[in-house]
Amino acid sequence: MNIILLGPPGAGKGTQAQRLVDRYGMRQLSTGDMLRAAVKAQTPVGVQAKSVMDAGGLVSDEIVSALIGDELAAMGDDVGAIFDGYPRTEAQAHSLDAILKEHGRTLDHVIELDVDEDALVERITGRFTCASCGKGYHDTFEQPRQVGVCDRCGGTEFKRRPDDNEQTVRTRMAEYRAKTAPILPVYEARDIVSRVDGMADIDEVTAAIGRILD
Ligand code: AP5
Repeated sequence: MNIILLGPPGAGKGTQAQRLVDRYGMRQLSTGDMLRAAVKAQTPVGVQAKSVMDAGGLVSDEIVSALIGDELAAMGDDVGAIFDGYPRTEAQAHSLDAILKEHGRTLDHVIELDVDEDALVERITGRFTCASCGKGYHDTFEQPRQVGVCDRCGGTEFKRRPDDNEQTVRTRMAEYRAKTAPILPVYEARDIVSRVDGMADIDEVTAAIGRILD
């Protein structure tokens, strides 16, 4: 199964993708995570991407599609893919079609997380992740069961993203409206789009996605 999780920054794509990985053994392909790893490692891609990401803009289509192509090539053909944060432009949507075809895969579902943008700023500015395993949390909505200890790996260090400030979030949202939302009709024409209420409780969103996939 190959699916796209679509929605503006903070809609819950990463949160739900992690749950799908745990439940279905699928693989999360997050271009945001790949780019952050490249920035951290100071690779040529990372050096090029850093200032764009810090400002909330979009990294070039060529770079992100190459990252996705490389990840898919390295995956077993029998492992399902969750595209998280990709595609984000019409050009990326076309590239994804070509990449999937190359690997004999088809796109089964595009799941749009329907959210109220005003609530997303609170979500994003409150989020943090485990520095060891990357599990995501939130100051208000999803604290570790034991304060200061990661539920998944027991890590005790946590980090926040540099682009999770209100000004950059507003730019990222504007980019979503201008460049990403317009790709939905491409998938609607294929009749593979499902909408889920992304403002519901995290577990309810997971259940709604499960009903689409099962
Ligand atoms: P990326 O990392 O993809 O960020 P994003 O799309 O802005 O999405 P987020 O990770 O911010 O949000 P999310 O939907 O995953 O929400 P989450 O689950 O964490 O991209 C970062 C940057 O990289 C981009 O700005 C761009 O520069 C570049 N980039 C990446 N991909 C690119 C591409 N394809 N092309 C070009 N450039 C690219 O949830 C947020 C918080 O809310 C969490 O704390 C969570 O616990 C909480 N939460 C989640 N769901 C709920 C709920 N239902 N109720 C209450 N709280 C919830």
